[in-house]
Amino acid sequence: MNCRHFLTLLDLSSEELTALINRATELKTLHAQGESCTPMQNKVLAMIFEKSSTRTRVSFETAMVHFGGHAIFLSPRDTQLGRGEPLEDSARVLSRMADMIMVRTFEHEKIVRFAEYSSVPVINALTDSYHPCQLLADMQTYFEHRGNIQGRTVAWIGDGNNMCHSYINAAIRFGFKLNIACPQGYEPDHAILQAAGDAAELCSDPETAVKDAMLVTTDVWTSMGQEQEQRKREQAFKHYMVTPALMQQANAEAVFMHCLPAHRGEEVAAEVIDGPQSLVWDQAENRLHAQKALIEFLARHHGKR
Ligand code: CP
Ligand code: NVA
Repeated sequence: MNCRHFLTLLDLSSEELTALINRATELKTLHAQGESCTPMQNKVLAMIFEKSSTRTRVSFETAMVHFGGHAIFLSPRDTQLGRGEPLEDSARVLSRMADMIMVRTFEHEKIVRFAEYSSVPVINALTDSYHPCQLLADMQTYFEHRGNIQGRTVAWIGDGNNMCHSYINAAIRFGFKLNIACPQGYEPDHAILQAAGDAAELCSDPETAVKDAMLVTTDVWTSMGQEQEQRKREQAFKHYMVTPALMQQANAEAVFMHCLPAHRGEEVAAEVIDGPQSLVWDQAENRLHAQKALIEFLARHHGKR
């Protein structure tokens, strides 16, 4: 199909990603000045959510309203997809009507297959393996507060999950060094890690990982779909909380980020997430601006049907 998709960060080049982040900040300023920008007039974004969401749903819906278009929320509870209509058929039908499709689902392979059958751009709004939209917001937030991230050190503390995988991809595209500290058995996917070469490295413990870090970040210990493992994970991760003491061992200028939702007293101490180094609210807001830039980018690159 003659269109670009956004299934992982690697779908865009470093130059495209940097331009997109800059555009996100520009769109944020325009919006704050009350200027309207409506590149999606009369256009529709279909949003398939097979998992829960607060930020992703609201940011995409708001983005489409700002852009003069419309977003349709689709859940498996009330679509035929949830009753077993093949993914391939849903992709072909939805892309005959909508101008762009956003999908949050379980296996990454599902969104890859969906995109193969879609004639319009498909956006990954989280799979079990990746969460690239979140990284757009995270990078925008870092750039706004600390400038270029190239050559900096970033520490990932906790689960080698979808967010960690997207951080590994971000290290490749944005040129930073990612130190990863995970409990044994919860490391990121080997192939994804290996593809990063020297850009990402497994560390023996959180203290080693945060050394020289300008950004310390973490995520929930139990992701959506893993609820039955919660007790086991609480045990495995108990030494992986981002505490004020851990932050003290990072660079003095270090900032803290978390994609949210957060569990205070588990992966992060309240003093950190609610403290002066935390950027989580700007980070959450930037989901809106970064995704506006993404929608605009994909619409621009979408060949005429
Ligand atoms: N960070 C994030 O994707 O949040 P939601 O699950 O609320 O969309
Ligand atoms: N790793 C988390 C991210 C939530 C935004 C999950 O997949 O549930």
